[in-house]
Amino acid sequence: MKDYDFLVLGSGIAGLVFALEVSKLGRVAVVTKRSLQDCNTEYAQGGIAAVLDEQDSFEQHVNDTWIAGAELGKQEVIRRVIEDGPKLIQYLIDLGTDFTRLDNTYDKRLENLSLTREGGHSHRRVAYAADSTGHQIMQALIDNCKKNPNIDIFEDHIAIDLITQHHIPQPDSFLPGITCWGAYVMDTATNQVEVFRAKKTLMATGGASRVYAHNTNPEVSTGDGMAMARLAGARLANMEFVQFHPTAFWTAEGETFLISEALRGEGAVLKLTDGSCFMENYHPLGNLAPRDIVSRAIDAELKKRGEKYCWLDARHIDHEQLRRHFPYIDSKLREHGIDFTRDPIPVAPAAHYFCGGVLSTIDGLTDIKNLYAAGEVACTGLHGANRLASNSLLEALVVAWNASKHPSITEDVVFPTIPEWQQMNSFYENEWVIISHNREILATIMHGYCGIRRSRRLLKYALSRLENIYNEVNNFYQHNAVRKEVVETRNLAVIAIAVVRSALMRKESRGAHFLIDNPERNDEIFRRDTVI
Ligand code: SIN
Repeated sequence: MKDYDFLVLGSGIAGLVFALEVSKLGRVAVVTKRSLQDCNTEYAQGGIAAVLDEQDSFEQHVNDTWIAGAELGKQEVIRRVIEDGPKLIQYLIDLGTDFTRLDNTYDKRLENLSLTREGGHSHRRVAYAADSTGHQIMQALIDNCKKNPNIDIFEDHIAIDLITQHHIPQPDSFLPGITCWGAYVMDTATNQVEVFRAKKTLMATGGASRVYAHNTNPEVSTGDGMAMARLAGARLANMEFVQFHPTAFWTAEGETFLISEALRGEGAVLKLTDGSCFMENYHPLGNLAPRDIVSRAIDAELKKRGEKYCWLDARHIDHEQLRRHFPYIDSKLREHGIDFTRDPIPVAPAAHYFCGGVLSTIDGLTDIKNLYAAGEVACTGLHGANRLASNSLLEALVVAWNASKHPSITEDVVFPTIPEWQQMNSFYENEWVIISHNREILATIMHGYCGIRRSRRLLKYALSRLENIYNEVNNFYQHNAVRKEVVETRNLAVIAIAVVRSALMRKESRGAHFLIDNPERNDEIFRRDTVI
C-alpha cells in the first residue's frame, strides 16, 4: 500500500496546480495514465481568458460567459472565477509561464501581455503563448513539480476505482455519507493494482470527448474521473452539453487536430466550398459567435449540401503575423501539404469539451467527503450550457487553487482497514473483441445518434444499444484480470449513457444541446441543471 496525504488523479493544469499548493502541507502522489504531458491542457492552443486590459471589465467577462452559456451558468460562480483570473495568471507567470508579450520580451508583469480574441468575447482578453499556450503552462508546472521533494509522480498508472464504503467489508461505523480514502491504482506496465491511500483525493482527470468518433482530444480523454465518481455514488450534472469545436482540421481519413478559434479572432473567415460566407446569416457576431452557434451553423450548411467540410480562410491576414502567432498550426498544416497563407483550410466540427461533469462547488467539493474535483471533470456552474472559449484553463486554475486552500483540506481523517484489490486469475483472451469492438461502436453511435443535432427517437435507440454495450463490458471487467483498455471502455460506456440520459431529460434546446423535437429554449421548466 502507498500512503499519502494527498492523491491527485490527472496531470493537467488543475492537477499540477493543486499538487504544488498542497505539497506545502504534506506528501502528494500524482497519478497519470501516460506521461505528465498526456492531457488536454498540453494541447490547449488559444489561451486563458481573464480581464487584463484597462478597457475591459469583470462585468463584461461575466456577461459574455453567461450569454455564451445560454443563461444557465451560476452567476456567483462565474463572478468569483473571473475575479480571480488576473491574480492566478500572475501566479502562472511567477511559476515561469512565458506568455506572448506586446513587445516580444520576457518579463513578469501582467501589463504588457498580448491579448487575442475568440468567439463570444466582447473584448480582447485571451492571454496566450503563440498557439501552444497549454504546452507553455505545462512546461512551467512540470518543472516545478519535478523539483518538489514532496511530490511523487506515477506515470503510466491508471486509477480503477475510488476507495469508498463500497470496498470496505464493514462500513457502518463510517456512515452516513460516502467518504473517499484514495483509489485502487494499476501500473499499466505490470498490470499490478495497488492501494493508494490518501486523506484527500483530487479528481483532475479531464474530459471525455473520446466518447465521440470525431473529436479534438488526446487518447487519454476517456472520462475516467467522471465515471469513477458516478460509480462511487456522486452526482453528475449537465452531461448533455458536449461542446463541439467548429474548426477541427478535416481529412478524408478522419485524422484531425484543432485549428484554434484565435485564428478567427485574428480575422480568418468561414466559407463554404463555393467560396461564399455564411456566418452572418446565423448571428450578429458572425465568425466570432459563441461556439455552439458556429458549430450548428456549419453542421446545417454541410447537411444541406451533402458536404463533409467547409473552408477556414486566413489568406488575407498579414502572412508574417499569421506564421508568428500560429507556428504549431502552420507546421501541422504543412505536414498535410497546406500553406495557410495560400490555401484555405478544410474544417468541420468535432467533439471538444464537456461542459458538464462531477457536480462540484467552486472550491472543488463534491458529494463524496474528501473527494475534490477540478478542471473539465467538474461541473461547477461556470460554463452553463456552452463554455465561453478559453474559460476552461481559467476555471481549472481557480478551482484547483481554491480546493488547495479550502479549510477542509487540512482536516484529519480516520481510515478504515482497506482491503487489497481482488485481482481475478482468469483472462478470457478470446473475448477481447468485447472491448475492442464495443469501444469503436460506442463512439460511432454517439457521433451518429447523439451529436450536434439530436432527436428523441435516435437518443432512445442509442440508449438501448449503449446499455447493452455497458453490460457486456462490465461483465468482462467483473470476470477478468483488469486491464487499462477494459477500465477505459467501461468508463466510456458509463459516460455515453450519462450523456444520452441527460439529453433525454432536457426537452428543450439550449447551448450545446439541440433537440430537433424541441428546437426552442424553455426557461420556465428547464433553466436548471440536469442532474443524474
Ligand atoms: C481554441 O484554441 O480554439 C480552443 C480554446 C478553447 O477550447 O477554449
